[in-house]
Amino acid sequence: MPFAVTTTPLAETAADVLAVGLFEGSRPDGALAALDRALDGQIAHLLETGDFTGKNGQTVVVYGRGRIAATRLLVVGLGKEADFTVDRARQAAARAAQRARDVGAAHLATTLFRPARGAEGRPAGLAEVAQAAVEGILLGLHRLDRFKTNAEDREKAEKTARLTQVTLVAGEGEAPGEVSAGASVGEIVAGAVRFARELIATPSNEATPSRMAQYARDLAAEGGFTATILGLEELKALGAGGIVAVNRGSHEFEPARFGVLEYDGTGGAGAPVVLVGKGITFDTGGISLKPAEGMDRMKYDKAGSVAVLATFKAVAALKLPVRLVGLCPWTENTPSGSAYRPGDVVRFLNGKTAEIVNTDAEGRVILADALAYASRYKPAAVIDLATLTGAIKVALGTEAAGLMTNDPALAARVKAAAEVSGERVWELPLFDEYRDLIKSDIADIKNSGGRDAGSITAALFLKEFVDYPWVHLDIAGVSWADKDRPYVPKGAVGFGVRLLVQFLRDWARDGGR
Ligand code: BES
Ligand code: MN
Ligand code: ZN
Repeated sequence: MPFAVTTTPLAETAADVLAVGLFEGSRPDGALAALDRALDGQIAHLLETGDFTGKNGQTVVVYGRGRIAATRLLVVGLGKEADFTVDRARQAAARAAQRARDVGAAHLATTLFRPARGAEGRPAGLAEVAQAAVEGILLGLHRLDRFKTNAEDREKAEKTARLTQVTLVAGEGEAPGEVSAGASVGEIVAGAVRFARELIATPSNEATPSRMAQYARDLAAEGGFTATILGLEELKALGAGGIVAVNRGSHEFEPARFGVLEYDGTGGAGAPVVLVGKGITFDTGGISLKPAEGMDRMKYDKAGSVAVLATFKAVAALKLPVRLVGLCPWTENTPSGSAYRPGDVVRFLNGKTAEIVNTDAEGRVILADALAYASRYKPAAVIDLATLTGAIKVALGTEAAGLMTNDPALAARVKAAAEVSGERVWELPLFDEYRDLIKSDIADIKNSGGRDAGSITAALFLKEFVDYPWVHLDIAGVSWADKDRPYVPKGAVGFGVRLLVQFLRDWARDGGR
């Protein structure tokens, strides 16, 4: 979708829908006052009647009827100015786009919703707000309707397809070049998030380990980086006993794959950042079988690996000057006569052993090998993303991913990127005392510490395989939306892509660390 930038006065901006924002308790001033005069005071009238107050989420349509160049003026309530963050701007843009789609618009023009508050309460820059607007528009219009064939859904899809043109209207003091630079980043990032949502929502009969590997190869070819895929035999030869063990339930039909992605935007300078993503294409629990209720959701247990793929897609398109490695173990976790069982002892890539007490705690078992593999790169930083524990959803719900780390400085950088991107994280402690919970009588550790501190003991298991600065993100709570939100429709969220891209842009800006 082309994003044009214009500095045309609002009353002269031609579009099917022209969107402007209004803070709660404010009156139209500046460019908006001029627009209101052209409209014979209709905006002021809306406020006087109390029909529209500017409350967050409110929208109202005023018809231009030849008084202004646009057919419709859409006024979007932005809430109180003091509460208005960049993420609110993203939400407002999504709402504007959805209203425009619903009236069948082909051309949406929108002002930038400012001023907005960025990270640490600082005023957000123009490019940042433009990026957020484009993300809001593209993510708000995204629908997971690939499998829908009924008339109602087709009609919605057609209406969405009709909206082909977006113009960002830069106001006084808003440099068009900066707006358009932000918009370009937003378009790339949103495209990667949409890719992630589609792939996460793809069911396990289609998104098999071998198909995931093919996605990695296709992205590499498109983005000009490399993807090396290890098969089951290579994993056995390597000694990746964790991935091999989890794959034993389905190795005959869906042999495991291990994707190694390598992107170099620096010409080989410096230690890389390594991203590791959990890629369970379906988690039945294995012999420790999950209950039937809600098990269909477990197609999203590959969301971490998909976030890694989508981040590579964006990083390559942005041509970021960073060195990046992506590691994705892909397998199903299913029961069968050959499946790994409780009581089994598994030996990992780095020689450590674990007693399997619950085959449903399989994520840490495949990630152990991947994290041990990361060591060979002597990485400057490793971030893993995994839908690892149900416990993280109990702790943090759907609003923040759990962050656990062995390196406060790296964690601070991830937290900063989380604030800017609007994809929140919250830290949980890795106190040594918790480690007692995963002591095993027979092996080095066991793969479940029971119910207490479930997300922390999972992370402590991973920590056994780490000898570099590391951040673990448990994204089980945030990767699936149970209800529609402004720019996140129900279903696969694509969490982590915006966060990682922001982290890597900051990393590149700071020359790595
Ligand atoms: N993939 C699940 C975690 C999960 C649960 C993700 C709910 C999304 C929603 C993971 O493999 C798992 O089953 N974890 C177990 C660990 C337990 C057996 C120690 C859990 O959280 O119950
Ligand atoms: Mn599981
Ligand atoms: Zn799982």
